Amino acid sequence: MVKVTVLGASGGIGQPLSLLLKLNTTVTNLALYDLVNTPGVAADLDHINTPAKVKGYLQKDNNGLEHAVTGSHLIVIPAGIPRKPGMTRDDLFKINAGIVRSLATAIAQFAPQAFILVISNPVNSTVPIVAEVLKRHGVFDPRRLFGVTTLDVVRASTFTAEISGAVSKDVTVPVVGGHSGVTIIPLLSKITPKHEFTHEQVAALTKRIQFGGDEVVKAKDGAGSATLSMAHAGARFAKAVLDATVNGVAGIVEPAYVYLGAVDSGNQLKATVDGLDYFSSNIELGFYGVRNIQPLEDLSTYEQDLLRAAIPELKKSIDKGVAFVEEAS
Ligand code: NAD
Ligand code: LMR
Repeated sequence: MVKVTVLGASGGIGQPLSLLLKLNTTVTNLALYDLVNTPGVAADLDHINTPAKVKGYLQKDNNGLEHAVTGSHLIVIPAGIPRKPGMTRDDLFKINAGIVRSLATAIAQFAPQAFILVISNPVNSTVPIVAEVLKRHGVFDPRRLFGVTTLDVVRASTFTAEISGAVSKDVTVPVVGGHSGVTIIPLLSKITPKHEFTHEQVAALTKRIQFGGDEVVKAKDGAGSATLSMAHAGARFAKAVLDATVNGVAGIVEPAYVYLGAVDSGNQLKATVDGLDYFSSNIELGFYGVRNIQPLEDLSTYEQDLLRAAIPELKKSIDKGVAFVEEAS
């Protein structure tokens, strides 16, 4: 049995993400949890002729959350409010921190072995919140916890290909750091296939990748933030984790925001980023989750400046997440 649970499954991301997970034939059971509408979403998806059996759970059900997560191999969390124009991701902290903490508490109690993929913003803080909750329950395995930053690399491929003329699906740009504004650090010097951009192009592309989320928030004009591209990105990352941890596929590398103490190789990166506990980098996935965290090497002078600007921002967000759980305990 390979059970996958989506927490926040009726939302703008939750529904298309659940659809894409239903199409993933590795999944045998798909549990959809939300405050509203999951019975309908589940009934609808369950008619698709792929293996996964789909079941909806509501918060008001008796032990709905417990039943949704129990036995799950992988849990994706897109629950929480999205931005409106003029807001930063950190403005979401007030509401989403509490939502994520309560969901993490249930995971710690009823699915402590699950791989956890956090989408809810601000990711730079919500991932430390989940970690702190798991630590307090004595079940924190940092190899199993991921902040989903895949959308940043998806955007980077698309935006750079528009300039370089390459086919976007063949373009890979490492994006490291975190998931908001200046903490998003595209490493355009390491693009494959190789391409030499002018300084002006690098500056413009970097800004566009860092603030790609704002483009969507502005275009949606009060109706939310990226949902469909995020569902694609979330399903891509979930597939990578399932392929590594269920199907035994070796050598899968995807970026994610992780705890740098997860594996020994994280310590080299930790030293480069002034001792931050969390950072997004290319992660090699293995049977137990995080297998290897790639270091930052040979950054251009421009990228080193981006890193210097990102570190204090990341530190603030991480400390805020940790303090939120500390204050409650
Ligand atoms: P949405 O409002 O459309 O959906 C959120 C869903 O969460 C709703 O169905 C709501 O009922 C549900 N929910 C709220 N509290 C809950 C709880 N306690 N338990 C279960 N479900 C609960 O929002 P959306 O557009 O789907 O965005 C969701 C989150 O994802 C936002 O925080 C957004 O900022 C974030 N996001 C992250 C990325 C990323 O790259 N990591 C990209 C896009 C959006
Ligand atoms: C994104 O990058 O699209 C998400 O983090 C949503 C947002 O608030 O921009």
